[in-house]
Amino acid sequence: MTRLSSEGAGVRGHAGVCAAARNWAAYSNDFLGEPAVRSYRELPLEADPPRHREIRDAVQPRFLATSVREVEPRFEALADCLLGAVEARGGGEVVSDIALPYVVGCLTILFDRPLDHGEWLSWGADVWDAGPGPRNGTVLAAYLDRVLGPNADVQGDRDMWAWIRSLEIAGRRVEPVEAHGIASLVLSGGRDTVVKLVSGLIWHLVQNSRDREEIEHRPDLIDSAVAEMTRWISPLPAMWRQTPDGAKVELDFASANHDAEQWSNPDQIDIRRPRQAHLAFGFGRHACMGKAVAEAEARIMLRVAITRLGRWEIASEPQIRWMRIVGTDSLVPAEFLRVPVVVRPAATS
Ligand code: HEM
Repeated sequence: MTRLSSEGAGVRGHAGVCAAARNWAAYSNDFLGEPAVRSYRELPLEADPPRHREIRDAVQPRFLATSVREVEPRFEALADCLLGAVEARGGGEVVSDIALPYVVGCLTILFDRPLDHGEWLSWGADVWDAGPGPRNGTVLAAYLDRVLGPNADVQGDRDMWAWIRSLEIAGRRVEPVEAHGIASLVLSGGRDTVVKLVSGLIWHLVQNSRDREEIEHRPDLIDSAVAEMTRWISPLPAMWRQTPDGAKVELDFASANHDAEQWSNPDQIDIRRPRQAHLAFGFGRHACMGKAVAEAEARIMLRVAITRLGRWEIASEPQIRWMRIVGTDSLVPAEFLRVPVVVRPAATS
């Protein structure tokens, strides 16, 4: 997925982004997003109707809430294990000890690729930064050639790559180049985004006892807290579209989520906001296919963490790369680099 920071020229604000996302003829996705790092289209993202719908219909079943629900107990066990390990050591670092191994672990569970955990973890949060240089597709390309090629291994009964290799799209067998595009997107789309969301939730709640205690007493606020942090951070701030004359413009989801005409005090994290749809997962036909996965991961981590976080403190100044959202006063984390925490021992009675 082409990752953008909300800073180029483009469509901004809630109403503008919704209108542009609906108008695929004027704001097309029918182009190769990043020729510098890959030669294939990420699918179903980089396609317009009717091809987009055909591919999305084929891939979506593995990402529906009903499919995710089956593996949620395993997400919960993983969250419990990672948080317990940090507590046993008296502290740790939120991104590398919790968020990244949790997100990678959840994907190995969902994709039934348990043996790939170490390799995926070694890539870091963003697969496009895994190779030499700042943005590089070589590591992912070598991996995809291996797991989608003729000698590919099959790890579990629900192995995602075996499933993608045998997909039928509108009555015909998936092409190898399409399989690469689908696998690339489902592997890369839900890593740095969810790492940022999970890190943001823990970072905020360790420091904000009022929000933490209220969620502890009112578990129904877990969903609101996840939605609000997703809105505020907007982990995927913007995506490209192409106009009929070939120009690239951004759909700026972050600016929509910080639009003062849509949100009161948009730069504030307010978990008690009346529920209202945000655009952090996009809007319209390309709206995030992994939303149920991302929200389950965040919700489960928060449920498992909330009763523990009262004993946690920030150990030293977190290292955060901040981003100003164009056209607004909002400054939000573009990336959590390090969030060191200490854990006080539990009181013995
Ligand atoms: C907090 C986490 C996430 C955020 C904020 C996010 C955000 C987005 C956004 C904004 C789009 C729309 C892109 C556009 O309109 O150009 C999108 C599409 C997509 N996302 Fe996510 N995403 C997240 C997690 C995931 C996960 C976990 C997966 C899968 C494992 C995933 C898979 C996809 C796919 C396949 C699409 C393309 C859908 C289409 O074109 O029909 N995402 N995501």
